[in-house]
Amino acid sequence: MKKLNLVLTTLALTFSAGTAFAASACDPGERVVKFSHVTGGTTHPKVVAANNFADRINKEMNGKLCVVVYPNSTLFGDSKELEALLLGDVQLLAPSLAKFGSYTPKYGVFDLPFIFKDMDQAIRFTKTPEGKDLLMAMKDNAGFVGLGYWMSGMKYFSANKKLILPSDAEGLKFRVQTSDVAKAMIKAMGASPQAMAFSEVYGALQTGVVDGQENTWSNIYTKKFYEVQDSITETNHQLLAYLFMTSQDFLDSLSPADRAQFLAIADEVTQEANESVKAKEAANRANILKAGGKINTLTPEQRQIWVDTMKPVWKKFQGDIGENIINAAAGA
Ligand code: LMR
Repeated sequence: MKKLNLVLTTLALTFSAGTAFAASACDPGERVVKFSHVTGGTTHPKVVAANNFADRINKEMNGKLCVVVYPNSTLFGDSKELEALLLGDVQLLAPSLAKFGSYTPKYGVFDLPFIFKDMDQAIRFTKTPEGKDLLMAMKDNAGFVGLGYWMSGMKYFSANKKLILPSDAEGLKFRVQTSDVAKAMIKAMGASPQAMAFSEVYGALQTGVVDGQENTWSNIYTKKFYEVQDSITETNHQLLAYLFMTSQDFLDSLSPADRAQFLAIADEVTQEANESVKAKEAANRANILKAGGKINTLTPEQRQIWVDTMKPVWKKFQGDIGENIINAAAGA
């Protein structure tokens, strides 16, 4: 990796310009490792963690590997990135755990409404035997390997009208990720879910294709969703976390020593990312308010109504996810 520029992430590159820049930023003889993701801005936890990982590899494995990060769906968006990993067109991804429904239903546990009180509980779950096993849930059927879980934040609803109770959402259309749990949750509110790629959400909110969405402070701020919504309600109803992942083929292609170094760096970057995620979320909440976004808070009684409305969703997915996994997460 040439010294002058290690990471491409903050550049607004087109697909072809990005590819050209990537090739020129790596030294001849270095193996280019493509890392594609869908988030943007400079303050987003995934952006920061992906850049850190690239920086570390490019410094510590200089001359061997050259990680090039493609943010903001510039290389592959939601609908193509997993297929690209299967085909070997990309080597690293960090999709939301809500986007793996076609590969495994087990990650539905991360989506169950109100299962995690906060990110600390989710991190504790990822360290249980059940949580660790889930890193490899897609190894046998797709050859996907989880390198670590990156927390992103708790999720909040926003809409083109003020939401205080679930009944305020009745009849509205909400954008969701491709998660069956999320779809069931929106239906439980008497609203309609519409699965859609992340890159399309701002436009869909702006033009009224959907009325609302659910996301973290970091996504709401960096994608400016607050500009096209009445307000955001601090529901805290669900977790957003990522599977930092690669393929078994890629890992097998590294020498044992290189693989060990690569995995050790992945581990350290994961820990660092999870230690700093709460501060990033808090900063982006403040950024939304500074930029003129409105945030509604709930009384404990109002929040309890959201909990009660969504709780029946758990039963529906118990069989697919596995009771042992749900119990480990709920009790973490
Ligand atoms: C979304 O699609 O809302 C998120 O998963 C995007 C992301 O990667 O944070």
